[in-house]
Amino acid sequence: MNFISIDDVSAEQIQKIFDIADRIKAGKMEVSVESNSVMVLLFEKPSTRTRISFEAAMAHLGGKSIYLDSLTTQLSRGESLSDTAKVISGYANYLVARLKKHSDIVELATNATIPVINALTDLEHPCQSLSDLYTVRDAKKALKGVRLAFVGDIAANTANSLMLAGTKMGVDISLIGPKEYPPNPVYYTKAKEYGSVDVYSDPKEGLSDVDVIYTDTFVSMGQESEAKQREALFAPYQVNAGMLKYANDDAIVMHCLPAHRGEEITSEVLDGPRSVVWDQAKNKMLIEEAILLYLSENEIE
Ligand code: CP
Ligand code: NVA
Repeated sequence: MNFISIDDVSAEQIQKIFDIADRIKAGKMEVSVESNSVMVLLFEKPSTRTRISFEAAMAHLGGKSIYLDSLTTQLSRGESLSDTAKVISGYANYLVARLKKHSDIVELATNATIPVINALTDLEHPCQSLSDLYTVRDAKKALKGVRLAFVGDIAANTANSLMLAGTKMGVDISLIGPKEYPPNPVYYTKAKEYGSVDVYSDPKEGLSDVDVIYTDTFVSMGQESEAKQREALFAPYQVNAGMLKYANDDAIVMHCLPAHRGEEITSEVLDGPRSVVWDQAKNKMLIEEAILLYLSENEIE
């Protein structure tokens, strides 16, 4: 009943979520959740896209959203996550949580009796990966055999979820980043079981024959104290015009946003003709709508 990790969904389930999104997009689907459905968003970290897109998705489905900044709840005064989960389950139909620690969302889900959806933790960003792959499929008309390079912080939450989601769906993954920040071994090992994933420290080598160049911030939320030491190590991995030359001529550029212009990506590339970042951001709402509908009818185990 939960969507905590991208590994909670199989390739078939991802395909079903994409089918629902296609039908919503084509206006071919009756879109509504059970009447009077309530979605609680419990966030410990800032958000622009994920919060708004989930709230907008729920509005389209005819339900209501309640946004809770964890600082204004009794969690800030020591109430346990397990008690909070039990109480919210009595009021709402969905709990969407953005928490610092992945183990905390697992605890929330263990104690909730409603579906819990991960809106980002230190380890994962599974809803993001689904909308990212949906965007790739739109742009490249396929997923199987497409080569996607994640450039920069290949140890980040976005990279963890995307390497699993991608390999499940037949996307070949290149992880390109500094040796000092290797991929998370748990996610990397699993991704290798699912499909093709290779690690490179040389962008030129890693970008050969690449169809999609993906990047994210070099300093994720919660890593601010490492900003200085990361700066020099990640600088060679900036996605800029020179970097694009190593990939296929029709390679698209993606970024989950927020972007740090001039750091992990230049404005020239972000605003350039190869960038699909605004479609990518827009697709979050569509896929979240599809996830909510899917969860209301099916169990994701
Ligand atoms: N991509 C993404 O999750 O953005 P927000 O942090 O603004 O939600
Ligand atoms: N890796 C980034 C993603 C932001 C959407 C972070 O965790 O801050």
